[in-house]
Amino acid sequence: MRTRVLTGITTTGTPHLGNYAGAIRPAIVASRDPNVDAFYFMADYHALIKADDADRVAASRMKITATWLAGGLDPNTATIYRQSDIPEVPELMWLLTCVTGKGLLNRAHAYKAAVDRNVEQQEDPDAGVTAGLYMYPVLMAADILAFNANKVPVGRDQIQHIEMARDIAQRFNHIYGREYFVLPEVQIEEQVATLPGLDGRKMSKSYDNTIPLFDGGSKALRESIMKIVTDSRAPGEPKDTDDSALFTIFKAFASPAETAAFADALHGGIGWGEAKQVLFERIEADVAPMRERYDSLMARPDDMEDILLAGAAKARAIAVPLLAQLREAVGLRTFRPATKAEPVVAKAVTKAKPPRFASFRETDGSFRFRLFGADGEELLLSAPFADPKTAGQMSKALSTLGGSTAVIESQGDHVALLLDGAVVANGQSYPDEVARAAAILRLRAALDALAAAQD
Ligand code: TRP
Repeated sequence: MRTRVLTGITTTGTPHLGNYAGAIRPAIVASRDPNVDAFYFMADYHALIKADDADRVAASRMKITATWLAGGLDPNTATIYRQSDIPEVPELMWLLTCVTGKGLLNRAHAYKAAVDRNVEQQEDPDAGVTAGLYMYPVLMAADILAFNANKVPVGRDQIQHIEMARDIAQRFNHIYGREYFVLPEVQIEEQVATLPGLDGRKMSKSYDNTIPLFDGGSKALRESIMKIVTDSRAPGEPKDTDDSALFTIFKAFASPAETAAFADALHGGIGWGEAKQVLFERIEADVAPMRERYDSLMARPDDMEDILLAGAAKARAIAVPLLAQLREAVGLRTFRPATKAEPVVAKAVTKAKPPRFASFRETDGSFRFRLFGADGEELLLSAPFADPKTAGQMSKALSTLGGSTAVIESQGDHVALLLDGAVVANGQSYPDEVARAAAILRLRAALDALAAAQD
């Protein structure tokens, strides 16, 4: 069984270099492990607790989605979605709320810190504390438990939240007498870089010491790197690598060999200005191709919408049947007698309007067909067939195939559908791999709808 690895990013800001190296990059690498079933989501409900600026939340969830995809997350392998597209999450949150001790939430670090601050300032202990902040850990438990995630990679500041999710899951399992929930484990990546910021403290929005990842382009990246604080050693003097933020950041992007060469240069007295230029060039080499993808994604948000909706459908295929079981467990049951009862497992994805085939004859006398999506998009153009019967058999074969069993590949700038190792139909061309990935998801959904219409 694959390990389900799940993590969320609160959509309040713009990803910086530290978010990328510390969380996004390792998560993308992990998603490529065939033993990992990655669930990565925009925690946009959580964002509402921290930000009341609607436009900022809206922009952030788009930017963070684009960052994941530009960084190379494959939406066909991983499940990427917005928390707010999963109604089962807030529904589960309520079921969990009802088994969560208020005392447990009183002990949450973030809430306690807010209370302590108030008390110190001789305010009412709960002044300015919303119930949203108070309930934050339960929402987070629902994020994790709705998908029975095994591992949750997070920063150290989130460990308590995962422990609470375990407590709450155990409590529910105990009260309702079955192991409904897997107990999630926290995953702290020891070897992953925590990047220092411009001033040497941990890179963080709250210290205002961040280096932008994409915002402002290569110019802003360079300008920011030039502001990294160093000691006052002049060019020619040997530099210390041990507590140099500049060197630590370099290390997070470079190979061991490049890192050793950079250390030699610093010990050999390279000037800080020159060293910063070396650092900039090394980071830019990684970031430039991603920035290009990022910019084109941000210019075509429709593709991201497709990817996220397909991701939500994949995620709901897990959460919907689980919630159906949980509703049974807590007594929210249908009034129909058991024999007539509708199946407990509801259909996750509402049946889409079926796609359609259209066949035609080429001027050279061969026969082809096209597959159109429900919205009229041309998804496939078949190979030419010598006679209409073969073409008909082929379109029939495609209509029972189903999206998950179909072999669909990216080939050059387009996608191809293969049967028994041979290409039988091609999709249109797309400008980049993210647009192609979105097209593959739409094609799979269309094949699913066709197959569903058959039975
Ligand atoms: N609270 C997390 C953070 O601020 C974000 C988050 C929300 C999350 N839900 C989650 C992380 C579920 C892991 C699992 O970093």
